[in-house]
Amino acid sequence: MENGIDRRRFVRLSLAGGVGLSVVGTAPLFGAESTKNMSDTFKIGGDLTVNRLGFGAMRITGEGIWGWPKDRNAAIKVLKRAVELGVNLIDTADAYGPETSELLIAEALHPYPKGLVIATKGGLTRPGPGQWSPNGKPDYLKQCVDKSLKRLKLDRIDLYQLHRIDSKVPMEDSLGALKEAQAAGKIRHIGLSEVSPEEIARARKTVPIVTVQNRYNLDDRKWDKTLTYCEKEGLGFMPWAPVGGNGGVHSTAVDAAAKAKNATVYQLAIAWLLQRSPVMLPIPGTSSVAHLEENMAAAKLKLTPDEMKALAA
Ligand SMILES: NC(=O)c1ccc[n+]([C@@H]2O[C@H](COP(=O)([O-])OP(=O)(O)OC[C@H]3O[C@@H](n4cnc5c(N)ncnc54)[C@H](OP(=O)(O)O)[C@@H]3O)[C@@H](O)[C@H]2O)c1
Repeated sequence: MENGIDRRRFVRLSLAGGVGLSVVGTAPLFGAESTKNMSDTFKIGGDLTVNRLGFGAMRITGEGIWGWPKDRNAAIKVLKRAVELGVNLIDTADAYGPETSELLIAEALHPYPKGLVIATKGGLTRPGPGQWSPNGKPDYLKQCVDKSLKRLKLDRIDLYQLHRIDSKVPMEDSLGALKEAQAAGKIRHIGLSEVSPEEIARARKTVPIVTVQNRYNLDDRKWDKTLTYCEKEGLGFMPWAPVGGNGGVHSTAVDAAAKAKNATVYQLAIAWLLQRSPVMLPIPGTSSVAHLEENMAAAKLKLTPDEMKALAA
């Protein structure tokens, strides 16, 4: 093929309607530049409509999710490109960097386009690179909200997630602090992370919960019961590590299915999630524009019921 793209790569990239072709510096061949077809939308909390395929902004930081990325301009480009491609749900946390992910989002995208939902989190502290430690103390969380507002240059955070339930602090106390921030107009909606159905039900006695963010992908379905709970209750389920996190997704079935669809395993993992449930809001993360474009193109990849079944086996 022209421009040195082999057929398989061409088909993979063109799933995005030409979007990916800019990777090799050619003009888009298939019309619309933006991936408007984001595999439909979901209303977070009943009032924030987002395209279901979002973006996770953890990987735009330094190694070990620590400090600034090696190439700050590249990180800015990834964020801008995500929005260009139709992403209107970006997940971040004060702990990513710490602080640098939120700061980069503001640097790249503020003033924010209408309808962009930035979901941040608090409740995990960072003693060092690769280290994470919960702190769910109410006073700590209250200042986290204030600091995220400042870094993100927002008057109100659309979705604030409790990054972890701290086993040393009753969840009612942690959530009570977020409830206060909500009453003060600093937070619109509240979400949880890494929680069971029982924990969500208990949390909802203190404050309305609209989303849950648990680890979930083709290889790791430990939280299936939480997903079922979210479906029943109409809560958004934001799977983290949707394309397998550090290790990727690996199985013979996935490799075979990807080959059969002329797609990459990453695209297959995303397409599977989107079709797995209407409340699924995948937030794949990347530091690379080429990977981002490839991932976004997965919204157009459709799996048959048989293919879905084979992958779930
Ligand atoms: N709530 C929580 O406790 C929690 C925990 C972890 C993450 N999160 C959130 O979930 C988001 C996603 O999680 P994650 O980043 O751990 O996992 P992920 O999105 O499954 O995987 C990201 C990794 O996959 C690589 N990758 C992505 N797309 C690729 C592609 N098309 N081809 C090749 N490699 C690709 C990335 O490397 P490159 O940079 O080289 O593309 C990166 O190393 C994070 O950004 C964060 O917002 C939440």
